[in-house]
Amino acid sequence: MVTLFWLVISYFLGAIPFGLVISKTCCGIDPREQGSGNIGATNVNRLCGSKYGALTLVLDILKGFVPVWLAGMFSDSAFFLSLTAFAAVCGHMFSVFLNGKGGKGVATWVGAFAAISFSGTVLCGVAFLLALYVYNYVSLASMIMVAAMPLVLLFQGLFGVVPVAVALVVLVFWKHWGNIQRLRAGEENPWKKCGPAA
Ligand code: G3P
Repeated sequence: MVTLFWLVISYFLGAIPFGLVISKTCCGIDPREQGSGNIGATNVNRLCGSKYGALTLVLDILKGFVPVWLAGMFSDSAFFLSLTAFAAVCGHMFSVFLNGKGGKGVATWVGAFAAISFSGTVLCGVAFLLALYVYNYVSLASMIMVAAMPLVLLFQGLFGVVPVAVALVVLVFWKHWGNIQRLRAGEENPWKKCGPAA
């Protein structure tokens, strides 16, 4: 019962659309209607500038980190922690406050997995930075980072977390379907052009 209650709490925290709230209140823009149409930090940065993009990034990471970290206080089941992470990321992707719509889940994924395996998330973060440096696309770097996690978890012996990490690879790629299409067509927004001047 406590488990189910905590998964619901985690979902509702993840469902708070910080990027939408920040964009609307701080720069009067609905990110669902401009740029990539995403409510995440990349699009908020693109539309409102780096200050609000960074604020969105921090809050989206925290809403993934906090419920999983707190869950770790009363359970040491890796599978339960991974379900809590899944609930938070799904909250962001399929928000009850946005009629089941939402973002691509990457920042919330970072926070949630940082609470499960900080070192593993740092490793995946390094993969993100390398991919961003080489390819200059946040979307592609994000997908590479998320796809690296199941392998990292296997190497770390955190087998109970692997099923959820794999499920989230599928969901994150599905949410990036538009980005994948743009990448294939050579039409994806490069990172270096992000920002209000773009
Ligand atoms: O986390 C979202 C990022 O991977 C892509 O964002 O706005 O370029 O679709 P965006």
